[in-house]
Amino acid sequence: MKLSENIQKELNAQLNRELFSAYLYLSMAAYFEKENLKGFAHWFKLQAKEEVSHAMKFFEYIIERNAEVELAQIDKPKKDWAKPLEALKDTYEHEQKVTDYIHKILDLAIKEKDYATQNFLQWFVAEQVEEEAQALEILQKLEKSKDSVGSLFVLDHHLGKRE
Ligand code: FEO
Repeated sequence: MKLSENIQKELNAQLNRELFSAYLYLSMAAYFEKENLKGFAHWFKLQAKEEVSHAMKFFEYIIERNAEVELAQIDKPKKDWAKPLEALKDTYEHEQKVTDYIHKILDLAIKEKDYATQNFLQWFVAEQVEEEAQALEILQKLEKSKDSVGSLFVLDHHLGKRE
């Protein structure tokens, strides 16, 4: 079964959004490097790589379905944040938006009775639960630390251990 034009368009748009996510997190990594918070920077660099792997899943799936990959321009991400808390707020909000997009594409696949795409997207439905939970955990820790430099350094150390 050939991918419908609509689904092909949406999958390509999501491929682009995943690459934008990588760009956004790389920009955050650069911000944290500048702030000398190496653990946060490490965490966001790994997150950026994970987003590229998400983009590649869309790339491979489009090809597998004998459809066409169309790469659009990637938006320029924000460059600076007033404090780490603001960057984590943006991360959490961004992941919620991504979840919303995944659900919308899944809605379309259900409407069009595209079972293969529904199955493909289920992986992302589960992944987004994890992505949101991870971002929220760090955000809540920062909220609790209430600008304490000590807690920030403890968290930075912890994030630096991400594998
Ligand atoms: Fe690709 Fe962070 O979701």
